[in-house]
Amino acid sequence: MTSADDWEERARQALDPVYYDYFAGGAGDESALRANRRAFARRRLLPRVLRGAEPRDLAVDLPGAPGTCPILVSPTAFHKLAHPEGELATARAAAAAGCVLTSGMAATVSIADVAAAARGVDPEAAVWFQLYLQPEPAVTDCLARRAADAGCTALVVTVDSPVFGRHGRDRRHGFHELPDGLACENMRDLPGGSAGGPRDIAMSPLLSWDDLDRLRDNTELPIVVKGILHPGDARLAAEHGAAAVMVSNHGGRQLDAAPATLDVLPAVADALDRRIPALLDGGVRHGADVAIALATGAAAVGVGRPVLWGLAADGEKGVRDVLERLRDDLDHTLALCGGRELADLTADLVTTGGPS
Ligand SMILES: Cc1cc2nc3c(=O)[nH]c(=O)nc-3n(C[C@H](O)[C@H](O)[C@H](O)COP(=O)(O)O)c2cc1C
Repeated sequence: MTSADDWEERARQALDPVYYDYFAGGAGDESALRANRRAFARRRLLPRVLRGAEPRDLAVDLPGAPGTCPILVSPTAFHKLAHPEGELATARAAAAAGCVLTSGMAATVSIADVAAAARGVDPEAAVWFQLYLQPEPAVTDCLARRAADAGCTALVVTVDSPVFGRHGRDRRHGFHELPDGLACENMRDLPGGSAGGPRDIAMSPLLSWDDLDRLRDNTELPIVVKGILHPGDARLAAEHGAAAVMVSNHGGRQLDAAPATLDVLPAVADALDRRIPALLDGGVRHGADVAIALATGAAAVGVGRPVLWGLAADGEKGVRDVLERLRDDLDHTLALCGGRELADLTADLVTTGGPS
């Protein structure tokens, strides 16, 4: 097993085609999904030489996760569709690999059990909790409190989903309910919360920055705002007290005409002007992709589907392999670029051809 593509192929063989398509698919014509990968494919790394590329250090400080690896697990829903151990396997693997796990509100295991599984492997493991601001503020507060009680060290608030993206593959399969025995465990006992299926998670097009302020005032946890593409929104997130933003188009699952995340990263990083870190996800599959994203202004990257492919193909072991290979590949790429630490990945190393 060598690359993310190999893992995807194994997962495709292991999964019911309905669930493979749920994980793999995007919104509309899937043009944003493709754009994420194409943006990486357009870039090359321009290496430096004779700079002494050892010893190397891949550590980065993120909200609630000091000295962590720059590769995070992005939140994805319903891991038990991929493997019977679901998010428990993902949590153990992320902890073993030393990567921050972002567990989703739409998980098939409660955040308390997910966090306990991660800490069973590494008592210091950092787990973040992703949520959507709920139409009923008391429900949002309850989710945030449960995450804090479970020992999560940051909240990731996803803001790119005032309405759901239209996923053609799910429509074609008629997939809108979880199979019997699976539920959205963080939501099932909350007022207005549904055990749910893929289209059942409550959100509201009426939410605004005021709702983010409310949550910020009601939690001690740092907030990462996920789903930022416009530099103006990055600036607003910083002004509203976010600890970081995640540049994300939801893996091409929301606005189909959205740009590739890598293409908007420089403008977002400029707008933030180092006040808070920019993270990025979407299309990260190789160590070189991570290096390109970091050199373009990201403090860290998230991976969504690769984790699901590892999970579907080989459970905890598969997820751990995906994450460890990605980190090892980043380390190798850093050495080949003549770098020793992440700060050595500077913007001048990224090119679309020769030196600019
Ligand atoms: C099957 C699936 C489910 C997802 N569910 C969520 C979710 O519940 N909340 C969220 O913020 N993002 C969700 N995402 C988006 C991911 O967090 C992430 O932004 C995206 O997968 C990154 O792109 P990549 O898959 O190319 O790495 C989901 C993505 C996929 C593929």
